Amino acid sequence: MSGEKFEGRTYVVTGCSKGIGYHVALGLMRRGATVHGVARTEQVLRSLKERSGGKFTYTVCDLTTDECVDRVVTDVKELHGGAYGLINNAGAGALGDLLELGPEIFERLTKLLYLTPVKLTLRLVPWMIERGEGVVVNVITLGIATHIRGLEAYLAPKHALHRFSKDLRDYLSPRGVRVITVYPPVTRTSFFEGHGLREFYRKMSSNPLTRWGITFPERVAEAIIEAIEAGKEVVTVPRLARALLIGK
Ligand SMILES: NC(=O)c1ccc[n+]([C@@H]2O[C@H](COP(=O)([O-])OP(=O)(O)OC[C@H]3O[C@@H](n4cnc5c(N)ncnc54)[C@H](OP(=O)(O)O)[C@@H]3O)[C@@H](O)[C@H]2O)c1
Repeated sequence: MSGEKFEGRTYVVTGCSKGIGYHVALGLMRRGATVHGVARTEQVLRSLKERSGGKFTYTVCDLTTDECVDRVVTDVKELHGGAYGLINNAGAGALGDLLELGPEIFERLTKLLYLTPVKLTLRLVPWMIERGEGVVVNVITLGIATHIRGLEAYLAPKHALHRFSKDLRDYLSPRGVRVITVYPPVTRTSFFEGHGLREFYRKMSSNPLTRWGITFPERVAEAIIEAIEAGKEVVTVPRLARALLIGK
């Protein structure tokens, strides 16, 4: 069964130079898929390509720009003819007083976390629809289950991506294309090097009540790949955390 979803299939993975996306890329290639990766850190992408045995291609660009979206789509079409899967994973965060963060952060995060995933989806999904198969994975956050003061600029686009994904699912399911939504909890990655986030992570990891819920990027990546394989639509880590999304 796994061969069907991975062997000879091409997946676009955004944000694959680190963290969750890096492990998703490795996991997909281990199962026989080809990955087209996107991030800004060329060194890591080059090294992934060198070690991939021909299973990794990439575009180096900043996903907050339309030129980047255009280049990714062009490269994927030229190198692979299209994509069986799109994993919208690239992300960054910011924590701070909503009234003081400034509009640039809201704009950058809205582009990176919402508009770019929407644009990539709209550009890459026609190829999937034509074949009646494919998968779009949107990495959201378990943070949408609650309100975290100071994380508004990050959570608003994640809420938008969550809503868009649910609506997209209604359009794509009848056409054979699966939409998977992923809600990671706090995960130990460089995400917390983002604006104002170090202190948030320090508090989470030193508090016995919250520390237990912190996970690793390998675990989230494995849950994503298992969901693709099993045809599951909603991914939480741990699975029980799904209860937090009731009514969302
Ligand atoms: N870590 C958590 O606690 C957590 C919890 C819930 C959800 N998430 C979500 O999980 C996803 C992955 O995050 P992570 O924890 O794995 O973070 P990470 O380790 O910091 O990785 C983020 C990835 O996104 C890429 N990226 C960031 N900004 C970019 C840009 N402007 N253009 C292109 N690529 C960009 C980075 O690559 P370059 O820097 O090389 O460009 C990197 O590969 C994000 O959507 C995040 O919101 C994370």
